[in-house]
Amino acid sequence: MSGSDWTRRDFVKATAAISAGTLVPSAFAARTERAIDDSIRVGVIGCGGRGTGAAANAIKAHPRVKIVAMADLFEDRLRGSYGWISGDEEYEKQVAVDPEHMFAGFDAYKQLLAIKDIDYVILATPPGFRPIHFDAAVNAGKHVFMEKPVAVDPVGIRRVIDAGQRAKAQKLSVVAGTQRRHERSYLSLMERVQSGEIGEIVSASCYWNQGGLWVHERKPEYSDMEWQCRNWLYFTWLSGDHICEQHIHNIDVINWAMGGPPVKATGMGGRQVRTEEKYGNIFDHFSIEYEYANSMTMQSMCRQIDGCAGRVEEVLVGSKGRSISRPGYAVINGPREWRFEGDNRNPYEQEHVDLIASIMGEGVYLNEAQRVAESTLTAIMGRMSAYTGKSVEWLGAMESRLDLAPDAYKFGDLRVRPVSVPGKTELI
Ligand SMILES: NC(=O)c1ccc[n+]([C@@H]2O[C@H](COP(=O)([O-])OP(=O)(O)OC[C@H]3O[C@@H](n4cnc5c(N)ncnc54)[C@H](O)[C@@H]3O)[C@@H](O)[C@H]2O)c1
Repeated sequence: MSGSDWTRRDFVKATAAISAGTLVPSAFAARTERAIDDSIRVGVIGCGGRGTGAAANAIKAHPRVKIVAMADLFEDRLRGSYGWISGDEEYEKQVAVDPEHMFAGFDAYKQLLAIKDIDYVILATPPGFRPIHFDAAVNAGKHVFMEKPVAVDPVGIRRVIDAGQRAKAQKLSVVAGTQRRHERSYLSLMERVQSGEIGEIVSASCYWNQGGLWVHERKPEYSDMEWQCRNWLYFTWLSGDHICEQHIHNIDVINWAMGGPPVKATGMGGRQVRTEEKYGNIFDHFSIEYEYANSMTMQSMCRQIDGCAGRVEEVLVGSKGRSISRPGYAVINGPREWRFEGDNRNPYEQEHVDLIASIMGEGVYLNEAQRVAESTLTAIMGRMSAYTGKSVEWLGAMESRLDLAPDAYKFGDLRVRPVSVPGKTELI
């Protein structure tokens, strides 16, 4: 983006914010081997709803956080995000993005990652890009906050796991946007479940049943690629389908309780209501049975259809009781009756509090890449089963060649893959 695209007011505000930083090396700067001001410098890649929200959460997590660079595929999204966060008095003092540090286009992430003094990056594009961006962020030596899900296919999952291991070797901290893992009500519940308060887990279920989400209608000037990227929820190569994009939160909670991912998925799903072209090629409902190594089965259900009953929660049935959880709510029914009543700090902020503590060496070292990749693959294997009508084993999913990436990342023609048909779509 060129400097002339910005008003003088924006420029003055941005440079004033930069020069407000004092040039004293800090504990943080020392740890990250740079001597700049004592700010925790954050770059955002993917400046939509969540990227902007995560930047705001990072600001609230620590008074020394400064948002210093932003990158997005689309200039209008970039401007919208910058305008919102720099125009809000709650956040503006911690936003110091000058025009030279705002990037648009498919290579915007590379330009942002090339900035030496950025400490950590927020990755919040559609998940189809996450493996590429995470890999590049680790190569650039950045700590990472990345939104879930972290891939849309097994090839992407393997790339994330590999990059996560390289991050560990470099002591780079990685936190993923499965915020239930940072929410006190969930943490208290899991402590109890893991100490046996509901006995042995004998079955489980989890749900994300809700109505439809936003749709970005096609405009005549859009190429296929632009339309798909703007309307990304509805294309499996970008979102992974809603079982992956949304329901991963609930699936991750069951994997957490079970101490790891399942060994097999057998499921079904379809596209009953959202059949128009604008809904791309994803399904509108899934129902999957997951089997874990000890034969425990978990029923997972997700639906995005208006006018139906809503339910977003997780249920664990144990030999001595049952738990039910959802954001801000956790109970155990049974002899060890319990209900979470503590102070539940905003988990979206807590993620950044925990990440910053890890980066600064003040808390537990966090690298959630492997774990979130496993939960993402759990969702993907459920989708693979529903799309093909076959059962899918964990190892088969982990080794699958399924790669949904387009041949090239450039604006132009891009065929929409056909909607999957169980019994006909091949399991790869
Ligand atoms: N943890 C949660 O509760 C939660 C909530 C909402 C969204 N999310 C996740 O956050 C991510 C983003 O979702 P959102 O709701 O913000 O969507 P969004 O459409 O509002 O934002 C995505 C942004 O990424 C940009 N983008 C697309 N491709 C890009 C590329 N190649 N390089 C740079 N920028 C690119 C888009 O232009 C857009 O501005 C998704 O993975 C989603 O699942 C998580």
